[in-house]
Amino acid sequence: MGTGRHPDYVLAVDPCRGDPCGRPHTGDPGGRPYTGNPGGRPPVRASASGKVILLGEHAVVYGRPAIAVPLSGLRATAILTPHPGPFRVQAPAVGIDAPLPDLPPDHPLARIVQLTVERLRQPPPDALLRIESDIPVASGLGSGAAVSTAIARALAAWYGVPLDPPTVSALVYEVERIYHGTPSGIDNTVIAHEQPVYFVRGRPPEPLPVGGVLHLLVADSGVPSQTREVVGDVRRRWEAEPARYEALFDRVAAEVEAARRAIAQGDARALGERMDANHEILREMGVSALVLDRLVEAARRAGALGAKLSGAGRGGNVVALVDPPAADRVEAALRTAGAARVWRTDVFQQPQRHEDTK
Ligand code: PMV
Repeated sequence: MGTGRHPDYVLAVDPCRGDPCGRPHTGDPGGRPYTGNPGGRPPVRASASGKVILLGEHAVVYGRPAIAVPLSGLRATAILTPHPGPFRVQAPAVGIDAPLPDLPPDHPLARIVQLTVERLRQPPPDALLRIESDIPVASGLGSGAAVSTAIARALAAWYGVPLDPPTVSALVYEVERIYHGTPSGIDNTVIAHEQPVYFVRGRPPEPLPVGGVLHLLVADSGVPSQTREVVGDVRRRWEAEPARYEALFDRVAAEVEAARRAIAQGDARALGERMDANHEILREMGVSALVLDRLVEAARRAGALGAKLSGAGRGGNVVALVDPPAADRVEAALRTAGAARVWRTDVFQQPQRHEDTK
């Protein structure tokens, strides 16, 4: 699992990656951060990883398969500390420090707490929930789903009731609907299971056999990507030209199937070709951007086996597949081409190794 925490990295949570929030909640003026619990029960901590989509984004919303892997070294953490009620939520990165009843019920943080305690058949505990995350926001790395997953796990641990990954995934999916409108469910699935997955909407995820180590570089363009908007835009285009978009989605599905075979066989070269092809289809769909094309091109020129945008597009991140000897060169090229940040992650059968290259 992850080797790297990144204490230098800006703490960020993204409970507002979508329409319904966007305004900070500062809570009651009298509320004080809780700083200690002498003699009480110890705090409960739980975390969840980020994720990157390898192939199949957008088409996955329309029933085609997709492949995603967890970024186990980038994590959101939820810490529950005993605190006189009512349940209080602190997410300093987004300026939230409020009793639960003061948050709107459709606020993503309030929603995951409510859904989870209902599932556990318990009241919100007399506790302070603090959220910390090193997953950058609005960059297609799953920060919203990771925060929700960490909260669900922490509440389950508080009450000593185990929640299995499918249950956590289903709870988080409900919150993803606030962020995304019509999410396929891939983010909550890969994050709740924290395993590489082959995913088809509405079906249980299939584990993804990985025949050889995949060396990935994930580069953040630094341009925010609003998943809900891009997904809505694709929907309008699909409605205007259904035959064209269905054909594009079918082509993506063929690339995903070929990539799945390549991954199972440990054939990185073939996988890289499929990633390149998927990027071209995403361009045809209209979800790429100059900044993403520039990063993809730079990675390929520097020797990446394949590169593509990952996630909703228009901004966010690109993912490049490399042979280890080319990794430094590709990373340097991504930075020169404007990447705000680059992470390396190696995908094994299980678990993953992750390292921040800074
Ligand atoms: O959350 P993101 O930006 O990684 O994008 C999600 C992937 C999409 O296929 C574009 C949407 C979805 O719900 O699957």
